[in-house]
Amino acid sequence: MTMRRALVTGITGQDGSYLAEFLLDQGYEVHGMVRRASTEKFERIDHLRDRLKLHQGDLLDHRSLVDALRASRPDEIYNLAAMSFVATSWIQPTLTAEFTGTGVTRLLEAMREVCPEARFYQASSSEMFGKVLEVPQVESTPFYPRSPYGVAKVYGHFITVNYRESYGLHASSGILFNHESPRRGLEFVTRKITWHAAAIKLNLRRELSLGNLDAMRDWGFAGDYVKAMWLMLQQDHAEDYVVATGEAHSVRECLEIAFDQAGLSIDDHVRLDPALRRPAEVEHLIGDPAKARERLGWAPAVGFEQLIRMMVDADLKLLGGT
Ligand code: NAP
Ligand code: GDD
Repeated sequence: MTMRRALVTGITGQDGSYLAEFLLDQGYEVHGMVRRASTEKFERIDHLRDRLKLHQGDLLDHRSLVDALRASRPDEIYNLAAMSFVATSWIQPTLTAEFTGTGVTRLLEAMREVCPEARFYQASSSEMFGKVLEVPQVESTPFYPRSPYGVAKVYGHFITVNYRESYGLHASSGILFNHESPRRGLEFVTRKITWHAAAIKLNLRRELSLGNLDAMRDWGFAGDYVKAMWLMLQQDHAEDYVVATGEAHSVRECLEIAFDQAGLSIDDHVRLDPALRRPAEVEHLIGDPAKARERLGWAPAVGFEQLIRMMVDADLKLLGGT
């Protein structure tokens, strides 16, 4: 039997690295699209490099997308590439729209041209629910994005739905709630907290500055969430799915667990910095993953507390060099 082939955009990111591992384990030939930079930053996929086929490309460049698809001839395309940090989207709103919004259309157009029979996954986001209109959020909950990133993701979501309906593409959108791991970027709040807890414990830092401690998120483990992406593309019909744990926790709870794991007192080391608050905040996200559970047979394996303690331990190991 011939190996199934997958192309992953954003393969150097958190989710890309977990998805690449998962697909390799399933016996796929895994192709990744990577951007050219002055120095290569492939840390998250270094351990897989020999087993991956990488193609240069950028979501801003149609030619490179067509070439990456022609070279990889994928059965499945996972579009994970995006400018993914919400706070930066206020600083670079137009670029965010180009990467995170219009970039999806470029990739869908390239797919229509090169491999319309392939299956397509779009990395949509719970950030689209923003100022929530329903609790918990499900697939039919109306969107009310609160950041240029959220607005761009709504565009990416609906263009995916539209190309499915207009051209009959097998294109699914996964509305994923926050998911974290030891590979999470250092700017996101969970990793910022776990990294600083470890750094303070090891006397490498003295203080951690944070913004809104009351924000609540439905946080899961990235390793669990990439499996849901794959399951969506194994269905006969393309549809959209919410992927979440169904539990919400505050930034403060995350801080308490992380500092407890590191054996530190919050009062001695944490400072609130109003500059880290956002122009418009998403206060409370909580998803209902019933459809993913029932149709895909998906369920998260790692709970919130276990996740944060695992991230602190990984950062202690990373920074302690043990
Ligand atoms: P991430 O770690 O920030 O990775 C983003 C990836 O996109 C990186 O590989 C980055 O490449 C690539 N990229 C950015 N702009 C690009 C461009 N113009 N052309 C080609 N590649 C580009 O994000 P993540 O946490 O893995 O998230 C994956 C996707 O899921 C993103 O679309 C994100 O918005 C979405 N999402 C994430 C979550 C979450 O909680 N993690 C939840 C919902 C949705 P470089 O390495 O070169 O920068
Ligand atoms: N990053 C950060 N840094 N966030 C902070 C801080 C801080 O110092 N202090 C408080 N927060 C609050 C933010 O205001 C927000 O309410 C919450 O912590 C989570 O912030 P992030 O970890 O940056 O994630 P996000 O929820 O904005 O976005 C992530 O999840 C989305 C899915 O809902 C990203 O992964 C997006 O790409 C993803 O779509």
